[in-house]
Amino acid sequence: MKKIGILTRDCAGVNACIRSVVRVAVHQGVEVLGVMRGYEGLIDGDFKQLNRRSVSGVIGLGGTILKTARASRFRTEKWQIEAVKNIKDNNLDGLIVVGGNGSLTAAHILASKYGVPLIGIPATIDNDVNGVNDTIGADTAINVALDALDKIRDTATSLERIFVVEVMGRDCGYIALQVALAGGCEEVILPERDFDIDAMCDEITAGNTRGKVSWIIAVAEGKAKAYDIANKINEKTGLETREVVLGHVQRGGAPTAKDRILAARLGQAAVNKLLSGETDKCVTMCCGETKTVSLEEAVKPKAFKVDCCYQLIKILT
Ligand code: F6P
Repeated sequence: MKKIGILTRDCAGVNACIRSVVRVAVHQGVEVLGVMRGYEGLIDGDFKQLNRRSVSGVIGLGGTILKTARASRFRTEKWQIEAVKNIKDNNLDGLIVVGGNGSLTAAHILASKYGVPLIGIPATIDNDVNGVNDTIGADTAINVALDALDKIRDTATSLERIFVVEVMGRDCGYIALQVALAGGCEEVILPERDFDIDAMCDEITAGNTRGKVSWIIAVAEGKAKAYDIANKINEKTGLETREVVLGHVQRGGAPTAKDRILAARLGQAAVNKLLSGETDKCVTMCCGETKTVSLEEAVKPKAFKVDCCYQLIKILT
């Protein structure tokens, strides 16, 4: 291979990953083109030459220097064919796609349906890529959310209030569960578990009678809205309740050391796998070693087990 492309979504650690891909490829005498604005740029033929210098100083930057977009056009065959044409016209011998479920699903289409040599790198704050232990960006998101939660606890304790904190996670309660355990939340509401608002309110009332005065409840955005939960608690218990929606603040910011290291390792693994002829796969780290999982497997729904951590949260409350 003489020339490869790299296409990304955004989350903390993606720039560290681009840097790794570019420098590892250049080290092996391979040229790298950055695809601008994700699959939109692939369809429009929007490419940018990357070299060692174009990725200097980006290791600690959030977002993606290549910019990105939600590309609904790629869902139709017409635009998929256009994207493949651009890959050929630009003499790309292979492509590395950095992103979550949506990006990797599109990557699997390019590899399996059109024969584009392709390796995926899992990067999403949701950590919901099947067969992958840790996705780039998830550790930073947890730490950002945890920092916010610790600050909220100051007010919750001082004013003897209840706070409902909504974190990201469309279909997966990973962030909510980790943050609840790390932040000492009293309750966590997850897509993976049924929850009973009446039972929760009864528990709060009983705790309040015993003298417990503040609670922090983490809720995954995909399961319920903090505003609705807070209103319900206030209505049923009469206790002062506030809601906080953390939103996209969790997706940005400087990546943690863990995310930078993961990005560097997976970037290197992806280049090596691509150059050695592997395709339609996603790289992952397992016990310090890089491995691959087929993209077909990676894009299946991840069965995220929550029961152990959930029970522990309740014991520690
Ligand atoms: O998949 C990552 C994620 O940040 C989810 O946690 C969230 O639900 C979604 O993306 C938000 O998407 P958008 O930025 O397009 O609103």
